[in-house]
Amino acid sequence: MYPQFPPGFRFGMSTSAFQIEGAADAGGKGPSIWDTFTARPGAVRHGQDARVASDHYHRYASDVDLIAEAGVHDYRFSFSWPRVLAGDLDFYDRLVDRLLASGVRPVPTLYHWDLPQEFEDAGGWMNRDTAHRLADHASALVLRLGDRVRDWITMNEMNVHTLYGYALADHAPARGLGLGALPAAHHQLLAHGLAVQVLRTHGAGSVGVAQQHFPVTAASDDPADVEAAAIFSALTNWTFSDPILLGDYPDELIRAGVGVPEAQLDRDLELIKARLDFYGVNYYEPTMIEAPKAGKDYSGVLEVDIPADMPFSPVPVKSDERTDFGWAVVPAGLTDILVTLRDRYPDLPPVIITENGASFHDSPPGPDGRVHDERRISYLDAHLRAVSDAITAGVRVDGYYVWSAIDNFEWAAGYDERFGLIYVDFSTLERTKKDSWFWYRDLIAAQPRN
Ligand code: NOJ
Repeated sequence: MYPQFPPGFRFGMSTSAFQIEGAADAGGKGPSIWDTFTARPGAVRHGQDARVASDHYHRYASDVDLIAEAGVHDYRFSFSWPRVLAGDLDFYDRLVDRLLASGVRPVPTLYHWDLPQEFEDAGGWMNRDTAHRLADHASALVLRLGDRVRDWITMNEMNVHTLYGYALADHAPARGLGLGALPAAHHQLLAHGLAVQVLRTHGAGSVGVAQQHFPVTAASDDPADVEAAAIFSALTNWTFSDPILLGDYPDELIRAGVGVPEAQLDRDLELIKARLDFYGVNYYEPTMIEAPKAGKDYSGVLEVDIPADMPFSPVPVKSDERTDFGWAVVPAGLTDILVTLRDRYPDLPPVIITENGASFHDSPPGPDGRVHDERRISYLDAHLRAVSDAITAGVRVDGYYVWSAIDNFEWAAGYDERFGLIYVDFSTLERTKKDSWFWYRDLIAAQPRN
């Protein structure tokens, strides 16, 4: 028996431009910070880059067919900002038309981490101006596609982008600024607020944001651990959602750290808390935190290491199962974070799970032509049940998108980490539907009709 969802619940699949498109220089496209980062020796596992990636730029038509055949309602993708900047909007025109002709609703994200290098050279997200450049980007896109695209997502995972790329140096642009990265958070939030305004001015039907959220638990009842977990969650969860959903930062120190004079900050927050039609939640795993214990080695616990001078340290989450990426499989964490968001935010808009999925190092198709990914099926099944539990607990969740439609470039981890429902052979670029694709298709078909 497949998990059941209310009539009208929207099933989808997600991707992002840099991770799938390839065509790194097509149509005069310049580099993004990720083109720069991936060219740096040692930055990405096995020295891989995304110049070709899944070659979706050239194969979008057959990819859309594979997505549509599963019967999904929505497809979430992102625009390559440097591609749009170069004026190559034709690709997105064709993609949107193909989706609509196949009966799939396009749900594009304006920004999914591939900042044009020329803006990074001018300070990147540490420069307030970048927020205004994002508003220009929003305006170019809504003017071109707004007659056909109804649903828009402004930004993707501002917290992970800030933490990995600006506070630490594990993702582009590898700044390593520690808490000095807070202005990058504020400017992305401002960009979100400005984009909402632009999209609405041009008649966008439905506007949201995609945020990664995770429950943070303390390793023990020791007040020092509880405090460390609260600080970590404030910095990684609430700094990015409180301004949008409450109109303020979660803490006076964070408020001071974003580096904007008080009067201007109040005006910014007014913009940032713009009403949304939906709130996108990306969920992968929970985090457990303790107060740092002298002499203890915390390396390798998270995908990235937190510097030893921070007042919090991650410890391994207890879980019987891990994905091949090493991430703990804790479906109840998804119910937990959804209920927490509902309780924290009285005006929480309807939620869409804009990403959820798992990396397993799937084997290529065998003699039967199939890719048997039972563990992904059980991961997705358990997480969909967790969403259903949240709905039963009274959280309004309107949709669920699997990360990802197809295998792709998993940032600093390269191509080993396969999240797709569709297998990609990265030497021939041939696609094969995994067993999880068939399972997802059947699950969608088994839902009550509208
Ligand atoms: C979140 C990001 O938005 C996406 O780009 C990434 O591939 C997945 N998580 C998996 O790490």
